[in-house]
Amino acid sequence: MSISYFTGRTILITGASSGLGSEFARQLAPVAARMVLVARRNDRLQELQSELKAKNTALEVFTHSVDLRDQSELEHFCDWLDESGLALDFLINNAGLGDHGSFINSEWARVNSLLQVNISALTYLTLRVLPIIKRTGRGLILNVSSIASFLPLPNNAVYAATKAYVTSFSEAVRAELRSSNVSVTVLCPGPVTTEYLAHATRTSDRAGHTAPFLLLSIETVVRQALEAVAKDRASVVPGALVNLAMTIVRSLPMFIKRLVYRARLSRAKPH
Ligand SMILES: NC(=O)c1ccc[n+]([C@@H]2O[C@H](COP(=O)([O-])OP(=O)(O)OC[C@H]3O[C@@H](n4cnc5c(N)ncnc54)[C@H](OP(=O)(O)O)[C@@H]3O)[C@@H](O)[C@H]2O)c1
Repeated sequence: MSISYFTGRTILITGASSGLGSEFARQLAPVAARMVLVARRNDRLQELQSELKAKNTALEVFTHSVDLRDQSELEHFCDWLDESGLALDFLINNAGLGDHGSFINSEWARVNSLLQVNISALTYLTLRVLPIIKRTGRGLILNVSSIASFLPLPNNAVYAATKAYVTSFSEAVRAELRSSNVSVTVLCPGPVTTEYLAHATRTSDRAGHTAPFLLLSIETVVRQALEAVAKDRASVVPGALVNLAMTIVRSLPMFIKRLVYRARLSRAKPH
């Protein structure tokens, strides 16, 4: 893929303060015209802003500290976007968080954060930004989901369900927008080394959820995601091995998956 496909674009990235979001900004910085970076940690966004400006002095970067769990903060940000007159033509809905552990032991505040950030904010932002994107006549939307969206995941029940929403929503909106000039792609990564796992792991929980052979670098995931967007692909699962594993998993009937859940969970029970 040539990154030049994204030349001159005005890009909004949520969750730009770390992980995949920062990497999207880094890979797009040499060619983009403007970037709007959103997350709660403004110090991180400002550090990234300086780094990006060093790569491309002509790049205009706007940083916004927004807590995506807070609907009024989100609406305020969207009002600013409207008033700014920025002709956004690429939205990357990347912000997200997980919560590993049994549902019965989860805390409502945490569960609600997942619902607000992974589902509600992504949906609201898409709704508010779509008219702007559509007007540009060459709009792109990339929604960051997960391979967890492909099957129910015990001990990740809420996270997997929120990502199933993102994958389903992205496919449906893509179909609706087919006759317009807006392309929607959903990114479904397997495990990537970011801050995600540390934030998603409860203090009471054992670490080590990640299968190391499926692990990909942040750079690879972002490069393959941008390739998919440039090729107007509906979805992308980065990494040949992850892709193969997911093709097999998705083809299994539900009763086989239930047997696997039962075996795994009974093995995990304390004796
Ligand atoms: N890492 C993986 O293994 C993996 C696998 C599949 C899918 N994903 C998905 O990839 C996306 C990016 O995650 P990552 O791996 O890069 O993890 P990360 O390093 O933890 O980044 C998460 C980003 O989301 C932002 N965020 C979280 N809560 C927020 C809130 N309330 N308001 C505003 N921003 C918020 C964080 O910014 P602040 O904390 O500064 O607000 C941060 O920039 C997520 O949607 C995740 O579900 C990750």
